[in-house]
Amino acid sequence: MLEELIWFVLVAILVVLFVNHFTASRKLPPGPFPLPIIGNVHKLAAKSRHIDLMQLEKQYGNVFRLYLGSQLVIVVSGGDALQEVLVHKSADFAGRPSIFTADVYSKGLAIVLADYSSEWRLRRKVTVSALKMYSARGGKPESIITNEFDFLLKRVRARSGQPHDITREIQLAVTNVICALVFGSRYELDDPEFTNFLDIMHAIENTIASGSIVDVFPWLRFYPFKSIQLLREKCKERDELVGRIYREHVEANRVAAPQDLTDTLLKARKQAEDEHSSVTGSLTDERLIMTMGEVFLAGIDTTASTLCWALLYLIHNNEIQERLHQELDKVIGPDRLPKLQDKKNLPYLEATIAETLRLSSLAPLSAPHKATVDTTLQGYHIPKGTTVLVNLWSLHHDPAIWDNPDKFMPERFLDKDGKFVPPKQDRFLPFSAGRRSCLGESLARIELFLILAQLLHSFRFENPPGYDLPTLKPNTGALLTPQPFKVCATFRHDD
Ligand code: HEM
Repeated sequence: MLEELIWFVLVAILVVLFVNHFTASRKLPPGPFPLPIIGNVHKLAAKSRHIDLMQLEKQYGNVFRLYLGSQLVIVVSGGDALQEVLVHKSADFAGRPSIFTADVYSKGLAIVLADYSSEWRLRRKVTVSALKMYSARGGKPESIITNEFDFLLKRVRARSGQPHDITREIQLAVTNVICALVFGSRYELDDPEFTNFLDIMHAIENTIASGSIVDVFPWLRFYPFKSIQLLREKCKERDELVGRIYREHVEANRVAAPQDLTDTLLKARKQAEDEHSSVTGSLTDERLIMTMGEVFLAGIDTTASTLCWALLYLIHNNEIQERLHQELDKVIGPDRLPKLQDKKNLPYLEATIAETLRLSSLAPLSAPHKATVDTTLQGYHIPKGTTVLVNLWSLHHDPAIWDNPDKFMPERFLDKDGKFVPPKQDRFLPFSAGRRSCLGESLARIELFLILAQLLHSFRFENPPGYDLPTLKPNTGALLTPQPFKVCATFRHDD
């Protein structure tokens, strides 16, 4: 009798759970059935999440649901659904989910990881206006980049056409550009502080990029994972280093005539204090130091990797490099380097940069968003607090939008007269869109154009004789970065 009763209760519980599951998920988007405890984690391989998600999209449509552990996640792709999330209902989806490793990294203070709030809005606004000071046409970035390019040019020329790792050279140059923008000074490459900086940033990036099991199962957070301990140590070292540079700026007190991003952030705080504005409390030392470190981290790997992708694609497609050389020779000539104002006259180069951003899709799943309210998406119910992943990679590789989506074809962005036709937002979102869109987009575009134009104007890049062509397979994490590769760079002009 007791046995029958136990069976009856068990079956009743199962039926209730089953019915509950389907009633609760009735208005949610469709998706695979979740397993107990792990949910659908097994459907995603860490190395190719964006591709696995694109496969699931074929089965379930442009909006589908998954459970990572017990956490509900909505995955979005396709022009219409992405526009709804990022543009038309931008505020509804402008949150960021709480992620354990992200909290270790920033204690909730980084703009990129902070949830949607008036405090986040203010810090984003201050940082955007500080960056604008640099991004203005003919402004400081152009002279900083051209100055740094001179060092890069000398280093690459010194290799005299011998095989060498160009990815490292580009990383060093971009790092110094960001140092000059944020801190006001560049480093010599053998400066121990520079090497220390790079080590700290790489350690942080690698730990965050490889993710942690604690992000899926937060109840594991009390286990002393070595990677989490390392992340804590490196973040502390970062705060000490950036904090010292910050304090030097406070002492130098150049708010009347800011010379770099840090001075500009301090100027914004001074203005807020003078106006007795309520926002002063949001611009604390700790927060400004985090913003400096964040721009530093977000600004290097993204731009450097995109430049490396461009060179990698050109080594695989020599005829495209040849056409770029012809365009540069015709428009610029041998006696000067390209400038920002030449951009409008270099349509094939502009198309090459757009095609690089599309094909590489550096941030394949962007950064995770979160529903800030109960809302709807393509007619489905999305509960407040749901994590939303936008699959930008899928948009950029959709065969219904792009002919031969896996092929590098800059001409897809040219009209019949050879003019550059900027791609529409419903099909091209390398920097995402809406309230959480990349705040470094203008700066990144200036860097991409100037560095690539100057590199191609100066050198012909070739795969070293006897070497296999370098792989196009990316290192995968939050960003799809190219694996290091060697080139022979031949100087194109007479001395
Ligand atoms: C080719 C270069 C770059 C690409 C492809 C890129 C792409 C992105 C993407 C896809 C996002 C996520 C947007 C979203 O959540 O929907 C993002 C956010 C962000 N990016 Fe970039 N980025 C680049 C360069 C930069 C640079 C140079 C900086 C710094 C100056 C920067 C700073 C940021 C910040 C702070 C955010 C967070 C914005 C927020 O959460 O409000 N990025 N970027």
